[in-house]
Amino acid sequence: MPRPGRFVTIEGAEGAGKSTQARLLADALAAAGLTVRTTREPGGSPGAERLRGLLLSGDLEWSLPAEVLLHFAARADHVEKTIRPALAAGQWVVCDRFSDSTMVYQGYGLGANRETIAALTAMLGLAPDLTLVLDVSVETSLARLTARGVPPDRYERLGRPFFERIRAGFRAVFEAAPQRCMLIDAEGDPAAVAARLRAVVAERLGVAL
Ligand SMILES: Nc1ncnc2c1ncn2[C@@H]1O[C@H](COP(=O)(O)OP(=O)(O)OP(=O)(O)O)[C@@H](O)[C@H]1O
Ligand SMILES: [Mg+2]
Repeated sequence: MPRPGRFVTIEGAEGAGKSTQARLLADALAAAGLTVRTTREPGGSPGAERLRGLLLSGDLEWSLPAEVLLHFAARADHVEKTIRPALAAGQWVVCDRFSDSTMVYQGYGLGANRETIAALTAMLGLAPDLTLVLDVSVETSLARLTARGVPPDRYERLGRPFFERIRAGFRAVFEAAPQRCMLIDAEGDPAAVAARLRAVVAERLGVAL
Protein backbone atom coordinates (compact mmCIF):
# COMPACT_ATOMS: atom_id res chain seq x y z
CA MET A 1 0.00 0.00 0.00
CA PRO A 2 1.68 3.28 -1.06
CA ARG A 3 1.94 6.04 1.50
CA PRO A 4 -0.88 8.49 0.80
CA GLY A 5 0.37 11.70 -0.80
CA ARG A 6 0.00 15.23 0.49
CA PHE A 7 -2.40 17.87 -0.76
CA VAL A 8 -0.99 21.38 -1.15
CA THR A 9 -3.02 24.34 -2.42
CA ILE A 10 -1.71 27.69 -3.62
CA GLU A 11 -3.91 30.72 -3.16
CA GLY A 12 -3.73 34.47 -3.64
CA ALA A 13 -4.93 37.33 -5.79
CA GLU A 14 -4.56 37.61 -9.57
CA GLY A 15 -0.96 38.11 -10.50
CA ALA A 16 0.32 37.01 -7.07
CA GLY A 17 2.35 34.34 -8.87
CA LYS A 18 0.30 31.21 -8.08
CA SER A 19 0.76 29.47 -11.42
CA THR A 20 4.46 30.36 -11.53
CA GLN A 21 5.03 29.09 -7.99
CA ALA A 22 2.90 25.96 -8.42
CA ARG A 23 5.18 24.97 -11.30
CA LEU A 24 8.38 25.72 -9.37
CA LEU A 25 7.17 23.88 -6.26
CA ALA A 26 6.12 20.85 -8.31
CA ASP A 27 9.58 20.83 -9.92
CA ALA A 28 11.24 20.93 -6.49
CA LEU A 29 9.07 18.10 -5.14
CA ALA A 30 9.77 16.00 -8.23
CA ALA A 31 13.50 16.67 -7.87
CA ALA A 32 13.18 15.36 -4.30
CA GLY A 33 11.93 12.08 -5.76
CA LEU A 34 8.20 12.55 -5.18
CA THR A 35 5.52 11.90 -7.77
CA VAL A 36 3.62 15.14 -8.24
CA ARG A 37 0.29 15.88 -9.82
CA THR A 38 -0.25 19.57 -10.60
CA THR A 39 -3.77 20.75 -11.16
CA ARG A 40 -5.80 23.96 -11.06
CA GLU A 41 -9.25 25.36 -10.40
CA PRO A 42 -11.79 25.90 -11.67
CA GLY A 43 -11.18 22.70 -13.60
CA GLY A 44 -8.86 19.76 -13.10
CA SER A 45 -11.20 16.97 -14.24
CA PRO A 46 -13.08 16.60 -17.55
CA GLY A 47 -16.41 17.64 -16.00
CA ALA A 48 -14.86 20.48 -14.03
CA GLU A 49 -13.08 21.78 -17.14
CA ARG A 50 -16.46 22.02 -18.88
CA LEU A 51 -17.82 23.95 -15.93
CA ARG A 52 -14.73 26.18 -16.06
CA GLY A 53 -15.74 27.13 -19.58
CA LEU A 54 -19.21 28.05 -18.36
CA LEU A 55 -17.82 30.07 -15.46
CA LEU A 56 -15.08 31.96 -17.26
CA SER A 57 -16.36 32.35 -20.83
CA GLY A 58 -17.63 35.84 -20.05
CA ASP A 59 -20.69 35.57 -22.29
CA LEU A 60 -22.88 34.41 -19.39
CA GLU A 61 -23.77 36.50 -16.35
CA TRP A 62 -24.44 34.04 -13.49
CA SER A 63 -26.37 34.98 -10.39
CA LEU A 64 -24.06 34.91 -7.38
CA PRO A 65 -25.56 31.78 -5.69
CA ALA A 66 -25.40 29.95 -9.03
CA GLU A 67 -21.77 30.99 -9.44
CA VAL A 68 -20.92 29.64 -5.96
CA LEU A 69 -22.67 26.35 -6.66
CA LEU A 70 -21.03 25.94 -10.07
CA HIS A 71 -17.62 26.43 -8.47
CA PHE A 72 -18.45 23.75 -5.91
CA ALA A 73 -19.92 21.40 -8.50
CA ALA A 74 -16.66 21.67 -10.42
CA ARG A 75 -14.64 21.29 -7.22
CA ALA A 76 -16.54 18.21 -6.05
CA ASP A 77 -15.88 16.52 -9.39
CA HIS A 78 -12.23 17.58 -9.31
CA VAL A 79 -11.83 16.15 -5.79
CA GLU A 80 -13.47 12.83 -6.61
CA LYS A 81 -12.05 12.26 -10.09
CA THR A 82 -8.56 13.70 -9.80
CA ILE A 83 -7.37 14.69 -6.33
CA ARG A 84 -8.50 11.73 -4.19
CA PRO A 85 -7.26 9.11 -6.68
CA ALA A 86 -3.87 10.85 -6.95
CA LEU A 87 -3.47 11.04 -3.16
CA ALA A 88 -4.56 7.44 -2.76
CA ALA A 89 -1.87 6.44 -5.26
CA GLY A 90 0.73 8.17 -3.10
CA GLN A 91 1.14 11.24 -5.29
CA TRP A 92 1.57 14.76 -4.03
CA VAL A 93 -1.06 17.11 -5.40
CA VAL A 94 -0.22 20.77 -5.99
CA CYS A 95 -3.40 22.68 -6.79
CA ASP A 96 -3.50 26.24 -8.17
CA ARG A 97 -6.55 27.71 -6.31
CA PHE A 98 -9.09 25.73 -4.26
CA SER A 99 -12.00 26.46 -1.85
CA ASP A 100 -10.33 29.49 -0.29
CA SER A 101 -10.59 31.26 -3.65
CA THR A 102 -14.40 30.85 -3.59
CA MET A 103 -14.50 32.11 0.00
CA VAL A 104 -12.43 35.14 -0.94
CA TYR A 105 -13.77 36.08 -4.41
CA GLN A 106 -17.44 35.15 -4.11
CA GLY A 107 -17.61 35.60 -0.31
CA TYR A 108 -15.38 38.51 0.71
CA GLY A 109 -15.25 40.03 -2.78
CA LEU A 110 -18.80 39.76 -4.08
CA GLY A 111 -20.77 39.28 -0.86
CA ALA A 112 -21.98 35.66 -1.12
CA ASN A 113 -22.88 34.05 2.21
CA ARG A 114 -19.62 32.93 3.79
CA GLU A 115 -21.22 30.35 6.10
CA THR A 116 -22.73 28.65 3.07
CA ILE A 117 -19.32 28.58 1.39
CA ALA A 118 -17.77 27.11 4.56
CA ALA A 119 -20.50 24.44 4.66
CA LEU A 120 -19.93 23.54 1.01
CA THR A 121 -16.20 23.34 1.69
CA ALA A 122 -16.85 20.93 4.57
CA MET A 123 -19.09 18.85 2.30
CA LEU A 124 -16.10 18.03 0.10
CA GLY A 125 -14.70 15.91 2.93
CA LEU A 126 -11.13 16.68 1.92
CA ALA A 127 -9.06 19.61 3.14
CA PRO A 128 -5.56 20.57 2.02
CA ASP A 129 -2.67 19.46 4.22
CA LEU A 130 -1.13 22.86 3.56
CA THR A 131 -2.35 26.05 1.89
CA LEU A 132 0.24 28.57 0.73
CA VAL A 133 -1.35 32.01 0.57
CA LEU A 134 0.73 34.26 -1.68
CA ASP A 135 0.53 37.85 -0.50
CA VAL A 136 1.48 40.82 -2.68
CA SER A 137 0.47 44.48 -2.60
CA VAL A 138 -2.36 45.54 -4.88
CA GLU A 139 0.21 47.59 -6.83
CA THR A 140 2.36 44.51 -7.45
CA SER A 141 -0.64 42.44 -8.43
CA LEU A 142 -1.83 45.02 -10.96
CA ALA A 143 1.69 45.63 -12.28
CA ARG A 144 2.26 41.92 -12.90
CA LEU A 145 -1.06 41.60 -14.68
CA THR A 146 -0.30 44.60 -16.87
CA ALA A 147 3.14 43.17 -17.67
CA ARG A 148 1.54 39.86 -18.61
CA GLY A 149 -0.45 41.78 -21.22
CA VAL A 150 -3.69 39.79 -20.98
CA PRO A 151 -6.93 41.71 -21.44
CA PRO A 152 -8.48 42.58 -18.08
CA ASP A 153 -10.99 39.97 -16.94
CA ARG A 154 -14.10 40.55 -14.89
CA TYR A 155 -12.32 40.88 -11.54
CA GLU A 156 -9.72 43.25 -12.87
CA ARG A 157 -12.45 45.48 -14.26
CA LEU A 158 -13.94 45.63 -10.76
CA GLY A 159 -11.10 47.92 -9.79
CA ARG A 160 -8.88 48.71 -6.87
CA PRO A 161 -11.40 48.52 -3.95
CA PHE A 162 -12.27 45.01 -5.05
CA PHE A 163 -8.59 44.04 -5.08
CA GLU A 164 -8.22 45.47 -1.56
CA ARG A 165 -11.11 43.27 -0.38
CA ILE A 166 -9.52 40.24 -2.02
CA ARG A 167 -6.21 40.83 -0.29
CA ALA A 168 -7.94 41.32 3.07
CA GLY A 169 -10.04 38.21 2.41
CA PHE A 170 -6.99 36.03 1.87
CA ARG A 171 -5.44 37.38 5.05
CA ALA A 172 -8.67 36.57 6.91
CA VAL A 173 -8.61 33.02 5.52
CA PHE A 174 -5.07 32.62 6.82
CA GLU A 175 -5.94 34.07 10.23
CA ALA A 176 -8.95 31.74 10.57
CA ALA A 177 -6.89 28.59 9.88
CA PRO A 178 -3.21 29.21 10.72
CA GLN A 179 -2.61 25.50 11.31
CA ARG A 180 -3.52 24.76 7.66
CA CYS A 181 -2.41 27.98 5.98
CA MET A 182 0.81 29.92 5.68
CA LEU A 183 0.86 33.52 4.51
CA ILE A 184 3.86 33.99 2.23
CA ASP A 185 5.44 37.25 1.16
CA ALA A 186 5.30 36.88 -2.63
CA GLU A 187 7.10 40.15 -3.47
CA GLY A 188 10.51 39.86 -5.10
CA ASP A 189 11.80 37.68 -7.89
CA PRO A 190 10.23 34.27 -8.58
CA ALA A 191 13.28 32.31 -7.40
CA ALA A 192 13.31 34.09 -4.03
CA VAL A 193 9.58 33.46 -3.56
CA ALA A 194 10.03 29.80 -4.56
CA ALA A 195 12.71 29.39 -1.89
CA ARG A 196 10.25 30.72 0.73
CA LEU A 197 7.63 28.20 -0.40
CA ARG A 198 10.10 25.32 -0.29
CA ALA A 199 11.14 26.24 3.24
CA VAL A 200 7.53 26.26 4.43
CA VAL A 201 6.66 22.97 2.72
CA ALA A 202 9.79 21.36 4.14
CA GLU A 203 9.01 22.52 7.65
CA ARG A 204 5.26 21.87 7.66
CA LEU A 205 5.21 18.60 5.73
CA GLY A 206 8.54 17.14 6.72
CA VAL A 207 10.10 16.71 3.31
CA ALA A 208 13.68 17.67 2.44
CA LEU A 209 13.66 20.26 -0.39
N1 LIG B 1 7.89 36.97 -8.35
C1 LIG B 1 7.55 37.54 -9.53
N2 LIG B 1 8.12 38.70 -9.93
C2 LIG B 1 7.78 39.27 -11.10
N3 LIG B 1 6.90 38.77 -11.97
C3 LIG B 1 6.31 37.62 -11.64
C4 LIG B 1 6.59 36.94 -10.41
N4 LIG B 1 5.84 35.83 -10.34
C5 LIG B 1 5.11 35.79 -11.47
N5 LIG B 1 5.41 36.86 -12.26
C6 LIG B 1 4.80 37.21 -13.55
O1 LIG B 1 3.59 37.87 -13.25
C7 LIG B 1 2.54 37.38 -14.07
C8 LIG B 1 1.49 36.70 -13.19
O2 LIG B 1 2.06 35.51 -12.62
P1 LIG B 1 1.18 34.19 -12.49
O3 LIG B 1 0.50 33.92 -13.77
O4 LIG B 1 2.06 33.14 -11.93
O5 LIG B 1 0.14 34.69 -11.40
P2 LIG B 1 -1.21 33.99 -10.95
O6 LIG B 1 -1.31 34.26 -9.49
O7 LIG B 1 -1.25 32.60 -11.40
O8 LIG B 1 -2.28 34.88 -11.72
P3 LIG B 1 -3.83 34.47 -12.08
O9 LIG B 1 -4.60 34.57 -10.80
O10 LIG B 1 -4.26 35.54 -13.02
O11 LIG B 1 -3.81 33.09 -12.65
C9 LIG B 1 3.19 36.44 -15.07
O12 LIG B 1 3.48 37.18 -16.23
C10 LIG B 1 4.44 35.98 -14.37
O13 LIG B 1 5.45 35.65 -15.28
MG1 LIG C 1 -2.57 31.58 -12.63
